Amino acid sequence: MVGLPARGKTYISKKLTRYLNWIGIATKVFNVGEYRRAATDQYKNHDFFRADNKEALEIRTKCAMMAIEDACKYLLNGGEVAVVDATNTTRERRKMLVDVFTVQHNFKLFFVESLCDDLRIIEANILEVKVCSPDYLGVDKNEAVKDFLQRIEHYRVTYESLDYNLDNDMSFIQIVNQGDRFLVNKLAGHLQSRVVYYLMNIHVLPRTIYLTRHGESEMNLTGKIGGDSDLSERGKEYAEKLAQFVVKENIPNLKVWTSQMKRTIQTAVNIDAPKEHWKALNEIDAGICEGMSYEEIQEKYPEDFAMRDQDKFHYRYQSGESYQDLVARLEPVILELERQENVMVVCHQAVARCLLAYFQDKTSDDLPYLKVPLHTVIKLTPVAYGCRVEYVSLKIDAVNTHRERPKMALPNGSIKTITDTASCSCASKN
Ligand code: ATP
Ligand code: F6P
Repeated sequence: MVGLPARGKTYISKKLTRYLNWIGIATKVFNVGEYRRAATDQYKNHDFFRADNKEALEIRTKCAMMAIEDACKYLLNGGEVAVVDATNTTRERRKMLVDVFTVQHNFKLFFVESLCDDLRIIEANILEVKVCSPDYLGVDKNEAVKDFLQRIEHYRVTYESLDYNLDNDMSFIQIVNQGDRFLVNKLAGHLQSRVVYYLMNIHVLPRTIYLTRHGESEMNLTGKIGGDSDLSERGKEYAEKLAQFVVKENIPNLKVWTSQMKRTIQTAVNIDAPKEHWKALNEIDAGICEGMSYEEIQEKYPEDFAMRDQDKFHYRYQSGESYQDLVARLEPVILELERQENVMVVCHQAVARCLLAYFQDKTSDDLPYLKVPLHTVIKLTPVAYGCRVEYVSLKIDAVNTHRERPKMALPNGSIKTITDTASCSCASKN
């Protein structure tokens, strides 16, 4: 990362890292501010960042080096992308990155610079995330803003922005005023183009994404997976309540996306908003197991059933899909969601788990076991560096289709029996 303080570097680092991990690229952020806080006593004031504060500059350079070294270790031990989240505002500092990453290790280096000259954005950023940073613990809000603005000025003294004449041999993207304009230089390879594409599609406008499964379906009632059945009576009731919920929420310019399956289309039918039906939102394809209950699968295909329990994310149904396949199928949906503002996505259990994992930064191991109960709306609202998640039950009974993670052998050799019956039962309630 490159940029003055409060230019969204940490925000971009975290968000990009969440995305790359979600698409299966092992990524980690190395935040130099955290190294600095660990290496120094409680922060006093902006003087620490003065360009002529030699002692502090030495500490800052050391901390940057520590982060760079840890990033290298990470990349040498299986990590695929390391994000060095620091200001890196001088050519001298960026040369340090080039020397270690490119010259010593032959890693590809890609700079992401955030430029912003809109004071309103900067002040809003400071108020949103800086005044509550550990640096300003117990400090008055206005004092913190004042101090932070001075910190920025100290950086400005030595700031050398990336320049396509002077830094022509470097790969980089410059993001101007939160994405009003971009400049991309010497893109090198597939991963960098994916990063650029992602960064060019995200925005910071306030909005909410509403995620819900379809109402209870006829096949849910009989405990069978997959298929394309209609809603049950209670499912239809949910479709009505959902439309009322949307009216109550009073959501500006809401768009509704469903899958192309009857149960999601029927769930959204009463909602007064433009609708799109995405094939990519269809439920996981259970292949030869479509239309069977978990008990039937276990009986007919015991090996498959056990393999799925061992590694649910990677297990691919014969002639069907895995959760990993589903994530790949949903990537365009995520990109489009990033471009949009208020959207309600009416989808399915496995699909909702994948989308939720993206917003909640869940690992691929946890993803297939995320709880997404029927007849519940999940509200996802971006806040600071993450996302607030609220579960709103619309209080209509439904079957529980969640099958718990089976217990595995413990490392000490003792066995906690792997559950061999599904918890999906027609009688149980959410
Ligand atoms: P520091 O150098 O002090 O660590 P920073 O550059 O890492 O600062 P952040 O902490 O990431 O700044 O600032 C977060 C804020 O930046 C959020 O309020 C977010 O909305 C905003 N933001 C996100 N993207 C951008 C962008 N491209 N330009 C400016 N602000 C942005
Ligand atoms: O049971 C409802 C359902 O949407 C099925 O169609 C789908 O196969 C299943 O949930 C996905 O959940 P799991 O991956 O836990 O089997």
